[in-house]
Amino acid sequence: MSANDVNKSGTVAWQSPSNIALIKYWGKKGFQIPANPSLSITLSSSYSETKIEYKPGAGLVDFYFEEQKNPVFAKKIQAYFEKIKHELHFLTNLDFTIHSQNTFPHSAGIASSASAMSALALCLCSIEQEISENQKIANVDFYSRASYFARIGSGSAARSVYGKLSSWGTSALIPESSDLYATPFQLPIHKVFENFNDTILIVSKGEKKVSSRAGHGLMDGNPFAPARYMQASHNMGKLIMAIETGDLKAFIAIVESEALTLHGMMMASSPGYILMEPNTLEIIKKIQAFREQSGVNLCFTLDAGANVHVLYPGIEGKSVLGFIKNELLDYCEDKKMISDKMGDGPKRIS
Ligand code: DP6
Repeated sequence: MSANDVNKSGTVAWQSPSNIALIKYWGKKGFQIPANPSLSITLSSSYSETKIEYKPGAGLVDFYFEEQKNPVFAKKIQAYFEKIKHELHFLTNLDFTIHSQNTFPHSAGIASSASAMSALALCLCSIEQEISENQKIANVDFYSRASYFARIGSGSAARSVYGKLSSWGTSALIPESSDLYATPFQLPIHKVFENFNDTILIVSKGEKKVSSRAGHGLMDGNPFAPARYMQASHNMGKLIMAIETGDLKAFIAIVESEALTLHGMMMASSPGYILMEPNTLEIIKKIQAFREQSGVNLCFTLDAGANVHVLYPGIEGKSVLGFIKNELLDYCEDKKMISDKMGDGPKRIS
């Protein structure tokens, strides 16, 4: 008798959030192995919802994005399944109809790979559990396995499997950290970080010119890459300390330096490229000036694009939102922003 009963059919669904990195993953060694450890905040209201219906078959994939059949995405998922089918054998013996949607608009310039790939990986692990003879997979193993498969789809997705703060990549400073999957951040967290906000300023809704995948690849020939990987590890140590002690000044310095270095690496690649827009820089300068004048503890970070994430503790909410509305929204495309905050991680839905 085989370990998996592929005569079964069923439906599984997960909602999984996006995340924003404080210490950036930028550069890989080998197959989806990060060149340095990274640490991120899991978001709350920016998430993907994915449902998979499975039935006995031959590994066919039908994919609907926002209720529209999408053969391009279906092909990408099929390619992803090819990479993991030696570990999830049911992928060759079942057919899949996948429905997925995001809470954030597709054209908001927000990278959806973290939420989408983590939701998909969680669904696959639920299917595995449902069809397995031994359904008693411990929770810890379930999530680290989901993180492992999410990572193969998109590195940053590995971290979305956990709420609050999550790290990925082996670090001597983080017990049980791994290059293969993320782990929930279990070191001390000062209460100032318990209710953290992320207001995402949509500077550009357009698709970025250079994909993250290509950007990671360009780190291989970047003469500054070795120094960057060392810096990321040092910054991880400093950030862990700031998170434990509630040192917001140190937190801000590290987080902004990580964002600027990420984009510095892009500019120093060959060929070099710029994903920031003039309005990205306007916003960054305004945030720094406002912080200096008001003493309010807010900072910016960036992912691989033009949008700006404004991070601040819950208690600074009122003054930061006033500042954003009065001074920053004019720099956003169609005055668009998304209010988000640290969240509790993915949820299985029926
Ligand atoms: C700048 O996870 O999108 O957001 O593994 O090739 O899918 P792939 O890359 P991806 O890279 C994310 C890079 C980043 C930083 C981060 O999230 O740590």
